[in-house]
Amino acid sequence: MKKSFLQYHLTVLSFFLLLASACTQTAEEEQQTTEQTPAAAETLPDSVYLSRGGEIVQKTFATLSSHLKASLQKEGVEGAVAYCHLNASPLVDSLSRAYGAQIRRTSLKIRNPQDAPDAYEQKALAKAAAAHEKGERISPWIERLPASDSAQGEVAYYAPIYTLPLCLKCHGTPGETLAESDYAVIKKHYPDDQAIGYQAGDWRGLWSIRFKE
Ligand code: HEC
Repeated sequence: MKKSFLQYHLTVLSFFLLLASACTQTAEEEQQTTEQTPAAAETLPDSVYLSRGGEIVQKTFATLSSHLKASLQKEGVEGAVAYCHLNASPLVDSLSRAYGAQIRRTSLKIRNPQDAPDAYEQKALAKAAAAHEKGERISPWIERLPASDSAQGEVAYYAPIYTLPLCLKCHGTPGETLAESDYAVIKKHYPDDQAIGYQAGDWRGLWSIRFKE
């Protein structure tokens, strides 16, 4: 009885000693890490950007497609043409401010000339196209873009955009899934349109989001 009482006290004591030394060690280590590598503390891991990007895409896509569906039903393609525009939604504006991010979509076949890919996006599109041709599903990915004299380093987030049956009304094959009269309306707004000929399930392009590092 006496022995086990002593044993109990010793165990408790050593536990507190261990805890105390563990705490001191952690605090010291933390201090060392922040002092020695300040840059590492500022750079967020890829997983953070992947989840931020995913959240932006999910919210933006939900809003765009609900606006598209509603206006297609109410006003047909002619009225809905304005709703596949990212700037049509105040949500995109507030998301870019909240995340300090630039939100874009791009493609190998574009409709709006403003969606034409820059040099980084061209490489990203080529990479996605290669994966798609091999029959692989494209997963979202992150790239660190180097800082230049004029701009600080950025983190690029890319995620695939696939074509749904709803999209064919404006991105399908003229005379088949895309009515000729609707295509005429589209051509009036976008004379150099290339974004047709898609089928449901086709890879349409990429979300391209840039975060300041
Ligand atoms: C009512 C017609 C309409 C429908 C339906 C539609 N789009 Fe669009 N889409 C457009 C127009 C118009 C643009 C050009 C928007 C702009 O000026 O930014 C566009 C642009 C895009 C772009 C940007 C790249 C580019 O070519 O300029 C992507 C990506 C895109 N659409 C994908 C889709 C997907 C995916 C769907 C289905 C979920 C869809 N669209 C449904 C009309 C439509």
